[in-house]
Amino acid sequence: MKSGKWGWVALLAVSTMCFAKADGAWMKKVPQGDRARTNPYAANADSIAAGRNLFLNNCAKCHGENAEGKGTRPSLTSARLRIATDGEIAWLIKNGNLYKGMPSWGGLPEQERWQIVAYLRSLNPRSTEVEHAGEQQ
Ligand code: HEC
Repeated sequence: MKSGKWGWVALLAVSTMCFAKADGAWMKKVPQGDRARTNPYAANADSIAAGRNLFLNNCAKCHGENAEGKGTRPSLTSARLRIATDGEIAWLIKNGNLYKGMPSWGGLPEQERWQIVAYLRSLNPRSTEVEHAGEQQ
């Protein structure tokens, strides 16, 4: 059956593309010290609101107004972000992953980066099922 064969080829191509999109490989690069950092602005309504504004100004054009993702830019409401620690998310925002199209936001004041983390955390309550996201690949 010819169509069956091409169906599999298409499926393989699509799944390869999905995998290349955002595979979370950055998590393995986060140094242990950064992974364990805690957010000084966590769980605070003001910092979540400030983080939401910063997100709209800096991040929404790629990740969508409600962090739902856009095209090849990943959604930021995901199992991966529920597993990630605040420190891991903060590390990625600071350093970016330019090779994969995620800019560095090291130019933003540290306080603003933590406020963004607080906002993202409000969308992604931490999952306690997995201790270290970096080991979850
Ligand atoms: C120019 C487009 C662009 C902008 C602007 C951008 N990002 Fe990203 N972001 C990406 C891409 C592309 C990836 C996927 C990187 C990868 O595969 O590792 C990504 C990945 C991420 C991830 C990891 C998601 C995952 O599932 O692995 C987080 C968290 C994130 N971005 C947060 C932010 C925040 C916060 C901002 C604003 C301060 C921002 N991004 C701005 C393009 C962008």
